[in-house]
Amino acid sequence: MLDIYKKSKFSGLFKKLLLVGLVGLLAWAYQATRPPPPKICGTPDGPPVTAPRVKLSDGRHLAYKESGVPKEQAKYKFIFVHGFDSCRLHANLLPVETLESLGIYIVSFDRPGYGESDPNPNRTVKSIALDIEELADKLGLGDKFYVIGFSMGGQIVWSCLKYIPHRLAGATLIAPVINYWWSGLPANLSTEGFSTQLPWDKWSLRVAHYAPWLTYWWNTQKLFPSLSVISQGPEMPSRQDKELIPNFPGKEWMAPVRQQGEFESLHRDLNIAFGKWEFDPTELTNPFPNKEGAVHLWQGDEDKLVPVTMQRYVAQKLPWINYHEVPGAGHMFAYSEAMSEAIIKAQLSIEN
Ligand SMILES: *[C@@H]1O[C@H](CO)[C@@H](O)[C@H](O)[C@H]1NC(C)=O
Ligand SMILES: *[C@@H]1O[C@H](CO)[C@@H](O)[C@H](O)[C@H]1NC(C)=O
Repeated sequence: MLDIYKKSKFSGLFKKLLLVGLVGLLAWAYQATRPPPPKICGTPDGPPVTAPRVKLSDGRHLAYKESGVPKEQAKYKFIFVHGFDSCRLHANLLPVETLESLGIYIVSFDRPGYGESDPNPNRTVKSIALDIEELADKLGLGDKFYVIGFSMGGQIVWSCLKYIPHRLAGATLIAPVINYWWSGLPANLSTEGFSTQLPWDKWSLRVAHYAPWLTYWWNTQKLFPSLSVISQGPEMPSRQDKELIPNFPGKEWMAPVRQQGEFESLHRDLNIAFGKWEFDPTELTNPFPNKEGAVHLWQGDEDKLVPVTMQRYVAQKLPWINYHEVPGAGHMFAYSEAMSEAIIKAQLSIEN
């Protein structure tokens, strides 16, 4: 009797300790998944505002950088949409002389949470297209403008084609990132494309898709490697990408990219790019049925980040896309001057 009594008393205590431990662990785990508050530009705790900015109707600011000829004199007006882990300064695809000789004005902006643009906690696949439209209106770019996006910025051009097609003079997607969970992609193609990614990258994308509330923890924890483009800089094993490294934006241009915090820049970007989309790009209709504009998509056939097999499928589903596959090119081919000139001239139907 006594033994049993002792045992049950002991096990009662043990259960209590276990419970306390478990609650503590959960509290710790919850804390670890919560990102710290962002350091908003222009607030006492945040970095200073150095770039010109427009104020959007919901009070957020977008920082921008203009180049080429002044917009009042420009023949063509472009809005450049930067990729993952970059900012407005990374639109240096063409030298100023080329922009001037072609009569081009380009404005590049920090996407929400990057550089000096306020984060958008309510960001969606659609909201960024509306931000772009508002930026164009605040800058007085007129009824129509061109959009050009690289990588994750190329993916955002799909949103522009969906939500603001009536504002576009034309659109160029350079190596646009594919979301493996778009509903129109055949399952076997997605599985095959996904399998070409690095093992830890696959986990980062799965977390962004299935457990976005864990994205901050996953990409900052030290137990396992996280997304390779976050931890080691762009993963670019393709031969041509290695040759182009000297043309990539330097360290001084990287400094402002994540200055407001990794969550509002990188992690929210991942959650949106690989989350659940409200539409599927492969089901878009032709924005220019009367050929009043053109959509061009450029893809390298040795791109290690965006599987070429999947891009081919997307392009083939949309016969109104002008698809350009660049032989031997990786992900960063637009950072060659000759290539970016060809890309811009194709959009403007200017003979080389
Ligand atoms: C986000 O949405 C909530 C609810 O609609 C709103 O109260 C808040 O002001 C929004 N935040 C921003 C930065 O727009
Ligand atoms: C996926 O399945 C379709 C139809 O069964 C087939 O035509 C296609 O080649 C497959 N694709 C891949 C990448 O296995």
